[in-house]
Amino acid sequence: RNTSQTVIAVDGPAAAGKGTLSRQLASHYGLNHLDTGLTYRATAKALLDRGLPLDDEELAADVALGLDLGHLDRAVLSAHEIGEAASKVAVMPKVRRALVEAQRAFAATAPGAVLDGRDIGTVVCPQALIKFYVTASPEVRARRRHDEIRASGASSDLEGILADIVKRDARDSERADSPLRPAADAHLLDTTKMSIETAFEAARILVDAALER
Ligand code: DC
Repeated sequence: RNTSQTVIAVDGPAAAGKGTLSRQLASHYGLNHLDTGLTYRATAKALLDRGLPLDDEELAADVALGLDLGHLDRAVLSAHEIGEAASKVAVMPKVRRALVEAQRAFAATAPGAVLDGRDIGTVVCPQALIKFYVTASPEVRARRRHDEIRASGASSDLEGILADIVKRDARDSERADSPLRPAADAHLLDTTKMSIETAFEAARILVDAALER
C-alpha cells in the first residue's frame, strides 16, 4: 500500500445519510472528518450576512479563499436556506477551485481523513484509498429530513422538503463544473431500505479489505 495519508471519499445527494456514515467511519478508524458541504455553506452564509449577491464569482471566490476550515459551525450552517444558497454558490468554478484546494490540504493532514460531499471521489481526492457513493430514493431522503426537523421541535412540510430535494439534486447534478456523480470505482450504498447500522457494517468490511491490500 502506498504511504500517503488514508483518505475515504463519501459522495452522494442531500440527506442520503453520508454525513452519519462519514462520522462513524472517521471515529472507527481514528481519522479526521470534513463535511465539505459546510465549506460551501459557510461561503454562502458569509455572503448572505453581508447582504452580498450569491452570483458574483470574484466576490464569492474571495470569501471562499478567506474561510477557516477549523471554524465551521454545523449548528449555525445547517439552516435550509443556507443549503439552497450553498448549492447556488457551488456552481461557480472559482469558488470550487478555492474550496477544493483547502479540502485537499485537509485530506493530506495526518492521520488522514474521511471527506464527504458531491465530488470527493471524482475531483477532490481521486486517489482516495476507497470511495463510497451513498444514495437513497428522494422520498426516503425527504422523509428522513422531515423526521429530523420534527424531532428538533420545529414544524416541517414533507411535500415542500421533497420538492426542494428534487430541485437541489438537479442543480448539483446538472452543473458543468464537478457535477454530482459516482466515481467509476466507487462502491454504491443504496440506503433506501438499509439502516445506517447496516450501511456502516457494509462500509467497514470494504474499508478493512482495502486497508489490507
Ligand atoms: O451536503 P450539503 O447539503 O451540506 O451541501 C450543500 C451544497 O453544497 C450542495 O447542494 C452542493 C454543494 N456541495 C458541492 O457542490 N460539493 C461538495 N463537495 C459539497 C457540497
